[in-house]
Amino acid sequence: MSILVTGGAGFIGSNFVLDWLEQSAEPVINLDKLTYAGNLENLRSLDKDSRHIFVQGDICDCGLINQLLQEHTPRAIIHFAAESHVDRSIHGPADFMRTNIDGTFILLEAARNYWKSFDNTAKHQFRFHHVSTDEVYGSLLPDEPPFTETSLYQPNSPYSASKASSDHLVRAWHHTYGLPVTTSNCSNNYGPYQFPEKLIPLIIANALAGKPLPIYGDGRQIRDWLYVADHCTAIRRVLEAGQVGAIYNIGGWNEMTNIDIVQQVIRLLDTLRPDPAGSYSRLITYVTDRPGHDRRYAIDARKIEQQLGWRPAETFATGIEKTVHWYLNNQDWVNRITSGEYRTWIARQYGDCA
Ligand code: NAD
Ligand code: TYD
Repeated sequence: MSILVTGGAGFIGSNFVLDWLEQSAEPVINLDKLTYAGNLENLRSLDKDSRHIFVQGDICDCGLINQLLQEHTPRAIIHFAAESHVDRSIHGPADFMRTNIDGTFILLEAARNYWKSFDNTAKHQFRFHHVSTDEVYGSLLPDEPPFTETSLYQPNSPYSASKASSDHLVRAWHHTYGLPVTTSNCSNNYGPYQFPEKLIPLIIANALAGKPLPIYGDGRQIRDWLYVADHCTAIRRVLEAGQVGAIYNIGGWNEMTNIDIVQQVIRLLDTLRPDPAGSYSRLITYVTDRPGHDRRYAIDARKIEQQLGWRPAETFATGIEKTVHWYLNNQDWVNRITSGEYRTWIARQYGDCA
């Protein structure tokens, strides 16, 4: 038995692969294109582990996917691979449409052709798990209830529209062809190995470098935040016991404004690695808002709790402390990935504020 993971060299995918192989003897075939966001260094501890089979390749390459399925006969596909950064999707949406929509379509078709040759028992046991986001539901007003699995799809950014499209394809491949799929829609993750273009690792990296901490607009936008290891546990639980065709919302019961997130990171840094010039809060810089910036996301995660018994193990206080420690202890990792392409991105996105 084995599983096929796509995007397993990215932030959540690499955390998932590491967790998986810590808890199970079952091999992982890890298909990742290694875009700017993919980093084999995240998986270095598996270098000599024969249970980890890494394949550099594109989910849009149907020949390669067919070959991997025939060769390794996985019992499940867990699909993380995506272009994932909203700001990049605003500057250049084409890659998002190609990977997130076309790529998911190609993967679904390969999975369907592979799965349809199975006998009935194997057909029943196979799973295609699609990893998606709460951003597909659009933006909430301050007094609206959190997103449930039946909330309307109202994506507002090129990223969320591409993820919404992929969710629809997954749904249709189940409804029309009977492919045994599950989908999870999760809130903002944070933790080890997150690329420092996303809010929390960007703030840590910039503070330590004495650079401005860019806050979009008024900083009062709200997100729900989940420690990445909790997301991995939830996906494993869905894979184990999730109902075929079902959607599960995954969240941390932890709505916070961006400015509160930044202040909490600063408080930890001020204690653990004091700012020679006083407090890192001096670096907070309000910058032009993101176009079409969603004001509030919030997740109602009662379904996965009630049906599958999953709840996050970390609170934001415990998760963010682990995260800040990890970044302080892994400055070399940050330094290596924040060269080259990263610098070009930061200059383009933040201009003078970089
Ligand atoms: P990430 O950008 O860190 O990693 C994406 C990975 O996919 C990278 O390793 C990249 O090389 C790979 N990839 C990109 N295009 C590919 C292609 N065409 N073929 C093969 N591999 C390709 O993303 P992440 O934050 O780890 O997100 C993983 C998944 O979880 C995504 O589907 C994302 O939409 C979803 N998600 C993310 C969050 C979050 O807060 N980060 C929250 C909810 C859902
Ligand atoms: P991000 O980490 O990009 O995740 P997402 O857009 O998927 O929620 O951003 C999280 C929030 O932080 C979002 O409301 C945008 C905001 N933000 C800033 O204020 N400044 C920044 O430099 C970045 C990257 C994000």
